[in-house]
Amino acid sequence: MNRLLLDVLDGQQTERPPVWLMRQAGRILPQYRAVRAGLSSFKELVKNTDKAAEVTIQPVDELGVDAAIVFSDILVIPEAMGLDYELVKNTGPVFSRVIENEKDIDQMGEGDAAAEKIDYVYDVIQEINKRLENRVPLIGFCGAPWTLFCYMLEGHGSKTFSKARRFLYQHPEQSKRLLDKITSVTIAYLTRQIQSGVDVVQIFDSWAGVLGHEKYNEFGLTYIRRILEGLPEGTRSIVFSKGAYSSLDQLIDLPCTALSFDWMRTAKELTQKIGHKKVIQGNLDPCVLYGAPEVIEAETKQILSAFDRGHIMNLGHGVYPDTPLEGVRHFVNTVKSYRYDSI
Ligand code: CP3
Repeated sequence: MNRLLLDVLDGQQTERPPVWLMRQAGRILPQYRAVRAGLSSFKELVKNTDKAAEVTIQPVDELGVDAAIVFSDILVIPEAMGLDYELVKNTGPVFSRVIENEKDIDQMGEGDAAAEKIDYVYDVIQEINKRLENRVPLIGFCGAPWTLFCYMLEGHGSKTFSKARRFLYQHPEQSKRLLDKITSVTIAYLTRQIQSGVDVVQIFDSWAGVLGHEKYNEFGLTYIRRILEGLPEGTRSIVFSKGAYSSLDQLIDLPCTALSFDWMRTAKELTQKIGHKKVIQGNLDPCVLYGAPEVIEAETKQILSAFDRGHIMNLGHGVYPDTPLEGVRHFVNTVKSYRYDSI
């Protein structure tokens, strides 16, 4: 088995960092587009054990990445709690109704009962592991409570998520009740993913950066911490709180194994601040992959040498769907041929 990712997370020395890409399973791959074309919706694909396992493994076969990530979406939790969504082409997720008041929050499912409704993901995980035959570790994931709260209040994507932020000031106690419910489902959901066979979990807080320092600590990190503390002993975890630099000290204090960062801070700044307290994942701008091969190589090597050991190479956010496959391949191969200086 290629244990690079697990070794780095376990604090062991490796000859190079592992590499994988957020959103690696998806539209960058022609094989994905072919599978997707045969099905009527994204949700159908997520719930199809055979096909979801197939598209999870495609980037391992095609790109040679050092980890697979379960093909699913963060929105399966709101759906299991009672809010239905559809993915609308060129728009993104759209919910058929949103949370508006206390009654709506009362109606939302919670805990094990809601997590049980996502049983198709646990089946997919078992199927992936049968087919992966231990070639690379498998990453499970979820959305952080704050990011899911954003979609549940807003009903769709937004630049500002001002409806969700407004609700925090108008109804702080109700906001906390909803975040409590999401957290209870998430702990049960991730625990089931681990029992089903994922080796690592990543928590995506894509909209962390729309909250200021105090509000993010109160309405964001409180719940991420509770999730981490609720997971089985020894779980390897990565937290990606995109744009939450004003809470960097609090992120470093979280009981997680690794922190993932976007490209807004340099490797030097991050390593100086974090040291070896956490493994660091990131943080190449996904747009680098549209550059010429020599640009991709130079930008990637600059990050590799700046981080040194205790690093997982990744992008600073998900790979964009129209990224040239050759650019992605060149990035992965640059990392795979890199070697740390021996000490
Ligand atoms: O990383 C992977 O390869 C695993 C699969 C994965 C998907 N979504 C599949 C997907 C993961 C880890 C996610 C996470 C996710 N989903 C996040 C957090 C990461 C981030 O990007 O910030 C968020 C915010 C979502 C919500 C979501 N799902 C949006 C905003 C969209 C539309 C945008 C888009 O990329 O089309 C989705 C749809 C989605 N999720 C697709 C895929 C492959 C595209 C569906 C299609 O095939 O048309």
